[in-house]
Amino acid sequence: MSLNEGDGQFVERDTVVRFNDVSFYFSDLPDDGGGEIEAAGAVNQVFTQLNLELPAGMLSVVGENGIGKSTLLMLAGARLIPTEGHVTVLGRDTRDFASAHERAELEEERNRLVSVIYQNMEFETDESIGTLLEAVAEMGNFGGSSDTFLAELRSALELDTVLDKRMQELSKGQLQRSIIAFSLLYGSQMVIMDEPVFALEQPQKERAFEYLLDYSRRSGTSIYYSAHDLDLTQKYSDKMLLLQKNDRPLIGKTSEIYTRDNLEHAFQAPLDTLYRRDYLYREMLMHTLKR
Ligand SMILES: Nc1ncnc2c1ncn2[C@@H]1O[C@H](COP(=O)(O)OP(=O)(O)O)[C@@H](O)[C@H]1O
Ligand SMILES: [Mg+2]
Repeated sequence: MSLNEGDGQFVERDTVVRFNDVSFYFSDLPDDGGGEIEAAGAVNQVFTQLNLELPAGMLSVVGENGIGKSTLLMLAGARLIPTEGHVTVLGRDTRDFASAHERAELEEERNRLVSVIYQNMEFETDESIGTLLEAVAEMGNFGGSSDTFLAELRSALELDTVLDKRMQELSKGQLQRSIIAFSLLYGSQMVIMDEPVFALEQPQKERAFEYLLDYSRRSGTSIYYSAHDLDLTQKYSDKMLLLQKNDRPLIGKTSEIYTRDNLEHAFQAPLDTLYRRDYLYREMLMHTLKR
């Protein structure tokens, strides 16, 4: 598939994540509790021989509920390994990280390459957010400028009022804002965010995403994300990947992909019903978040 804005030429240096003939099935094996899902028997086939070249920049992943946004992001983040085929992240085959969950060094190497915010994240710790932020700043990739960056994140993500609190004491929105700060402060080469702001109020979502877009552009860090809020995915992305119900994915500049025709074709539904679904989906997400 050609990527670069319609001229049919694929520009190698722009590709950050590549899917080569990727098939992915969820197995019916019960989750082993390790947090990672194993790909085994052909039970729920999410992708079949998918080929994609995903560009640098701020990329939103859009498509109807259940189509595979989270699965695709976890494959791109080396948290799921393809059943068949290969995913490479900045040239690195994610199969190299298949045993990351049992080898701390490998896990750290993977996390330096790509960090991931899961849709529902839970932590068990008694430390305050302020202490945790400082710890992440220390282990992160910003050396002497980590203090300045931490101050910037505290302000941009409105964290000053939560520094003395523990995870368990945070609202859903405060938790999500803290998690975004952790992920940027760690300084991985790229960052993946699956529904990172659904619990935030609208103006806060906008402010958080304004910051993320600006950060991605000036630092050159690619951020791939999904958000059920269609307006948000349009406003705050340079590129868009649109997963289609009965067709192969579309990818390109957001301004070219995000059209009424494309959306209605991808979702197989009229646009105005899609906006109503946005609202219902947020309600569902809020409900499933355990706090
Ligand atoms: N852990 C899992 N086990 C089995 N099937 C799953 C699992 N997670 C997701 N699926 C299925 O995979 C498909 C894609 O899901 P997902 O990637 O979560 O979609 P989206 O993020 O677009 O809503 C859906 O049919 C979903 O039911
Ligand atoms: Mg999802």
